[in-house]
Amino acid sequence: MEKQGVSGPKPRFLLGNIMDMASLVEKSTSQDMDTISHNVVGRLLPHFVVWSKLYGKRFIYWNGIEPRMCLTETELIKELLSKYNSISGKSWLQQQGSKHFIGKGLLMANSDDWYHQRRIIAPAFMGDKLKSYAGYMVECTKQMLQSLESAVKEGQTEFEIGEHMTRLTSDIISRTEFDRNYEKGKQIFHLLTLLQQLCAKASKNLCFPGSRCSLSNGLFCSDRVTSVQHYPSQIENNFLILKWIILVEATDPTVNPPMGVSCTAFNSLLSMVINESLRLYPPATVLPRMAFDDIRLGDLHIPKGLSIWIPVLAIHHSEEIWGKDVNEFNPDRFASKSFAPGRHFIPFAAGPRNCIGQSFALMEAKIILAMLISKFSFTISDNYRHAPVIVLTIKPKYGVQICLKSLNP
Ligand code: HEM
Repeated sequence: MEKQGVSGPKPRFLLGNIMDMASLVEKSTSQDMDTISHNVVGRLLPHFVVWSKLYGKRFIYWNGIEPRMCLTETELIKELLSKYNSISGKSWLQQQGSKHFIGKGLLMANSDDWYHQRRIIAPAFMGDKLKSYAGYMVECTKQMLQSLESAVKEGQTEFEIGEHMTRLTSDIISRTEFDRNYEKGKQIFHLLTLLQQLCAKASKNLCFPGSRCSLSNGLFCSDRVTSVQHYPSQIENNFLILKWIILVEATDPTVNPPMGVSCTAFNSLLSMVINESLRLYPPATVLPRMAFDDIRLGDLHIPKGLSIWIPVLAIHHSEEIWGKDVNEFNPDRFASKSFAPGRHFIPFAAGPRNCIGQSFALMEAKIILAMLISKFSFTISDNYRHAPVIVLTIKPKYGVQICLKSLNP
């Protein structure tokens, strides 16, 4: 790659640049942010900021034994995700790092195995099936709102809304994906969450071919269970985005109760707020793809075995793309279609391997947000500490504390 003008920081034996990244992130996230600012790239991806200044838009770093090329050019990213899906995918290292909670599920599968699983799961997220979930979403949200209302009546004013969103989105997925077997769904979800926690611990171990990982394999085998192994991380995406939406709305209210506004106008305002929150805080901050064959990408020759690392968070915060107010919460930028979904705006990835649960997630976020706004006004609490961190996805380190006021006391 050096011959093509792509270079990067010097790697160490076996560790690559992992230690450099770890120390930069440790330093940048050691303290809370002074204000509720959405200028978070320097905090969450400090290595990207440092290396792109030193080596340019394209650079190579080593994630242990795996070379990764950072790519920020959105035309090339679109081409990679849409055109080269069949000869790119998840690397061995990625699969090892997450196999104990994602297993051989869709999220980590490649080639024929990916195609087979995607075909099995896709119908659960399409058309009438998807519409049929709306009732469950409304029912679960009503229950949550009732419990919040009771708490407000009893005098509670401040809530860590993240906890409520976590429970609510888990309830919804249990009901929709495990049919009416709600308790069983909850039980499986709980076990998968425990596995995820173990995996987060295990992922701190270094993995390279021939090394042994500490957890046993083969916990799940049937297609149905294999296909739902991605739920903890994906449900997490769902409740995380709701936390960030509520945070930005509580700090900078944009949506008012739908009184005197047409359904269409209210609906598009909700979409704009959700999109803008996904732009500022995309749960999947980076998208990695390994080339399984040589790939020609614009002027670049990507050799087989090189991983491409797409820094979604940095693209979503690029001043060049979004303008001077890039770090402001400004839902209006989504009022027109000029924001180029699938290119500049990629919270759900793009191409044939995009997020299968995208419509589900957006429908759910809209229903919850609309119902919450109709019942309560909310503002950010003085106890909220702005300290976004990445633990697999972007999280508010200390939760989201808000003050709720009932609109119909
Ligand atoms: C706001 C919520 C969500 C966001 C931002 C999100 C984002 C993403 C992204 C970026 C990917 C691509 C990952 C990659 O290829 O490396 C992905 C894949 C996937 N997502 Fe989501 N997701 C969300 C919710 C959901 C939900 C609710 C489900 C299902 C219950 C789901 C199921 C999946 C699956 C199965 C894949 C793998 C698709 C494939 O490889 O073919 N996601 N998601």
